[in-house]
Order: sequence, then structure tokens, then C-alpha cells
Amino acid sequence: MKKIIITIDGYSSCGKSTLAKQLARELDYTYIDSGAMYRAITLYFIQNRIDWNNHDEVREALDNIELEFEYNPITQASEMHLNGENVELMIREMLVAEKVSEVAAVKEVREFAVAQQQKMGEQKGIVMDGRDIGTTVFPDAELKIFMTADTAIRVERRFKELYARNKNISIHEVKENLELRDYIDTNREISPLRKAEDAIILDNSQLTPDDQLRLVMQWV
Ligand code: C5P
Repeated sequence: MKKIIITIDGYSSCGKSTLAKQLARELDYTYIDSGAMYRAITLYFIQNRIDWNNHDEVREALDNIELEFEYNPITQASEMHLNGENVELMIREMLVAEKVSEVAAVKEVREFAVAQQQKMGEQKGIVMDGRDIGTTVFPDAELKIFMTADTAIRVERRFKELYARNKNISIHEVKENLELRDYIDTNREISPLRKAEDAIILDNSQLTPDDQLRLVMQWV
């Protein structure tokens, strides 16, 4: 069967990565979590005290950043490596979540990430999730999905995920971070989160993962 590019965009914690992983498994495609790239860049900026409002500093820092997805046979997932170090767990922490949308709004950061994402898609056979994948990264993708879900459901999903690793986290904190990120992602100047004109909307508030996969496989 001809290999295609599938893009999944949408608000934070809609279940984009769950769907992307399901599709990649079903179709034997590569899954790419574009958000992990912005999170890893943010982690680097925090660790190295880079001022992301200073364009020269950002450009210089980006020259020293190497991002790679590596498959981990234990977790059976592709994990983010930053300059050779596995940072998969660290990039999911609140410290990074609080800053990532500010960093992702910086022009140089987006150019850096988008160029790498487009290269990963050259061979097709990929599922990529994010905010601008159907609009900017792969405007000619064969299948574009725009995901939404009720805010309360999204907050609960993200809270459960984070609470499993950190019992100090509060649902209020998670809700605030999710709403702030959605606000910044939707209102930024470059590649804001938007539904591509030719994207299909998927509201998964009331769908189980199995229902969701069955439905999307029909679109594929
Ligand atoms: O997908 P995830 O929630 O991990 O993404 C983290 C953040 O990275 C988003 O809130 C957004 O600010 C940024 N992002 C982006 N463009 C993408 C993917 C993620 O701006 N394609």
C-alpha cells in the first residue's frame, strides 16, 4: 500500500499522541512527537540559562543542540535524546511545560524544529503530531486530523499522567498550564495552532481509544 503522511494537530492533552502511536503501530509507520522537540529545546535553554528573547543567544544555542529520537526496547517507544542524553522523562516535567510555549513561539526555534521535521517526512510513512503539522510542516499531507476534546476531560487526562510520576502536582496547576499553553499556542504570530482547511475534526471526548482507531482507519 502507498505510504502517506498523517498529521495530527490540536490542543494540549487531546490524546494526539495516543492516536498517533495507535496508527503508527497499525500501519507500521514511524511516529514523531514534534512537541518533544520543543520540550527538549526548552530544557536545554533552562539548563544553560539561555535568554530566549535574545535572538543572538538563541541562534548560538541552537547550533549546540542535537535532537534525536531513539527507540527504547524496554518501554517500546521512541524517546527523545538531547545531545546524546535520554531526556524523555525530564521534558515531561512541569518546569519544562511552564516555559515550552514561550520558547516554541520564537522564530529561530520554529525554523530549527520545522526543518528537521520536514526531513523526517521525506520518506513518507509517518504520523506526526503537534500544533502546526498540517498547516506549516506538511501542508500537502494526505490525511490531516484536527483533534479536540472537552477541557475538563483533557485536564483530567493530563493530571492522571503527571500524578503517576509526581504526587505533589495539583489539578489546578495542570488546568492553568494547559489553558495558558493553548492560549499562547493559538495566539502566537508564527504558525499558530489552527485547523488546516482540509483537516478532518476529531472530537474524542466520548470515544474509547479503540473506537477512535476504528474511525480514523476508515479515513486512512
Ligand atoms: O505536544 P506537547 O504538548 O508535548 O507540546 C508542547 C508544546 O510545544 C506545545 O504547548 C506548543 O507550545 C509546542 N509545540 C508547537 N508546535 C508543535 C508541537 C508542539 O509549538 N508542532
